[in-house]
Amino acid sequence: MKPGYILLLSVLLAAVSCKEAAPVYKDASAPIDKRVEDLLGRMTLEEKVLQLSQYHYGGRDNKNNIPDSFGEDPKTVGSVIYSSPDKELAVELQRKAVEETRLGIPILFGYDVIHGFRTMFPIPLAQAASFEPELSREIATAAAMEASAGGVRWTFSPMVDVARDPRWGRIAEGYGEDPYLASRYSEAAVKGYQWDDLSNPRTMAACLKHYVGYGASEAGRDYVYTEISRQTLWDTYLPPFKAGIDAGCPTVMSAFNDISGVPATANHYTLTEILKDRWGLDGFVVSDWQGVKQLVNQGFAADGKDAAELAFNAGLDMDMMDNVYAEHMEELLKEGRVKMKDIDNAVRRVLGLKFRLGLFENPYPAEGEFLTPEALELSRKAATRSFVLLKNQGVLPLRTAEIVLSGPIADDRHQVLGSWHAHGVDSETVTIREAFDKEGFRLAAGAPVAVVCIGEKSAWSGESASRADIVLPQEQIDLLRAAKKAGKKTVTVISAGRPLDLREIEPLSDAILYIWQPGTMAGPAVADVLTGRVNPSGKLPVSFPLSVGQIPIHYNRRNPARGGQMGRYQDISSEPMYPFGYGLSYSNFEYSPVQVDGLRAKVTVTNTSDVDGDETVLWYISDPVASITRPCKELKFFEKKHIPAGQSEEFVFEIDPARDLSFPDQDGKIRLERGEFAVQASSSETEYLQY
Ligand code: GLC
Repeated sequence: MKPGYILLLSVLLAAVSCKEAAPVYKDASAPIDKRVEDLLGRMTLEEKVLQLSQYHYGGRDNKNNIPDSFGEDPKTVGSVIYSSPDKELAVELQRKAVEETRLGIPILFGYDVIHGFRTMFPIPLAQAASFEPELSREIATAAAMEASAGGVRWTFSPMVDVARDPRWGRIAEGYGEDPYLASRYSEAAVKGYQWDDLSNPRTMAACLKHYVGYGASEAGRDYVYTEISRQTLWDTYLPPFKAGIDAGCPTVMSAFNDISGVPATANHYTLTEILKDRWGLDGFVVSDWQGVKQLVNQGFAADGKDAAELAFNAGLDMDMMDNVYAEHMEELLKEGRVKMKDIDNAVRRVLGLKFRLGLFENPYPAEGEFLTPEALELSRKAATRSFVLLKNQGVLPLRTAEIVLSGPIADDRHQVLGSWHAHGVDSETVTIREAFDKEGFRLAAGAPVAVVCIGEKSAWSGESASRADIVLPQEQIDLLRAAKKAGKKTVTVISAGRPLDLREIEPLSDAILYIWQPGTMAGPAVADVLTGRVNPSGKLPVSFPLSVGQIPIHYNRRNPARGGQMGRYQDISSEPMYPFGYGLSYSNFEYSPVQVDGLRAKVTVTNTSDVDGDETVLWYISDPVASITRPCKELKFFEKKHIPAGQSEEFVFEIDPARDLSFPDQDGKIRLERGEFAVQASSSETEYLQY
């Protein structure tokens, strides 16, 4: 071969080999763990620590979290909380990260997409009232489609804190008082956000929060101490997180609360022993907003540096908005107070998720639309399915085309969006009045029926929104008094982010429809149900106390030493006004006795009315004698079915002893004990089974 050809060939081979020398971490065909190791090996300590730091970018309107200013664009950080609806701003920041930094590591854009991004869906507590987790999976998918088009690929959702204190404003953000119900919604939301492949640019990584026990906040105040025994931790607060991890959730956000003396942000037992060593979390833990620095306020750290050491060594991988990792990690390393191998492991966890999300291949926002007809229809459907009919004395569904429509919520566009309404736009809300106008109702002062729409402001629930009393303002209740005085049948529509004390409202109402905070399609959803187009089927995911004096009150309490009237309040009933699982329908459902055959329980439910309806059967198990006392009963399964007028449906509960008859001890070790168990279908009589 002529020398010239040899030279040309060697130049070509060199060029080819040069091309093959592209770093492994940039090779999309390489295994993710290889890409992580290759990239990690190229990083400086500073670059590694910045991957463990999250900052804020784009305007912020959350009154509780006003970001410190972080000067120039944080283009080399691990993540930003991206609060702007401006997609181009996100593109510009990401372009700088990818094109203007030494290694081109994309930023992970996170945001609080709690119940929608632009199309607002019912608040999570409302979604739980539908007892249809499948709907929430669809909602999460719809939210991810919008958020990913807005540049967001990581949501700080689902919030799965079991909550039993309506004074706590954040009860609105979760799925109520029951660990099993919250667990079903936890897995549904994770699967909805993530689909089956996180590398799909329309998905979002989920984040289970607030880990753990935040819902036990003392007296319903926020950011406070929580007295949680290890037994209660395993019985009540951990299960929804385990369900979300098992569903593939890659991230967890630590909570603000102090767990019986060891704050969640620096709790090695929960963050590392449980979450990583036992449950195998394959992603990472992010703190809540400045939660690391707040260890100083909680009396657990002397200063920011001390806090960084305590949180990091407990297993907290990424520091949200504190900047204390960026500020102190190098010194802590030099002083031997943190280990390089732990820093590398934390960075591996962050990089691993970025590779799984496909950010190195698709760093920029996907194309997508907002407020599509499908998303709006889903929002409307989910809202109607979440409404709970608390009372109906023959006035619903409306049989008149002439009503009086009043109350502050009748024309409201904002309060019905609830807390954490992301980029929901008030003007895009369809009001109740607009919906009734469209129905062709005549809104006349002399009409026989008054529809009075009252409720909470959206700011009265959510973060830092605790209330010592849970009654609505008197001027709202006066509207009901006026309607009653005018001799009208009164339909009370209540919008709220929490259970309320309805003692004054109930007697003034011929019907009560609890709509929670239903989102963008509030109006059409209310019209659907009040006109009877949709038969209400929601049930309460949380007990409604008679008054705050009963709190905490929830159905799955442990049995008292003395029963009957012994030990009960002398001044008011000890029962809630409306219990967990309560909800009426326009239909009438009658239950057969529960039949138990071995480990199979069944009940037949008959719709004895002339209106098709949907009924949810709640299956409870009681374990009356156990080596650790058990709650009086525990929800272990539920099923919702459509039952046409005059027909019956059989509901079956296949009991799995390991799943349904066992319980954890104070270190999470599962116990399954022989004995007699009771089975109950909703409020039916109990039947017994031997195991
Ligand atoms: C807040 C909330 C948390 C939220 C985070 C980011 O303080 O506690 O739920 O995800 O900050 O906005």
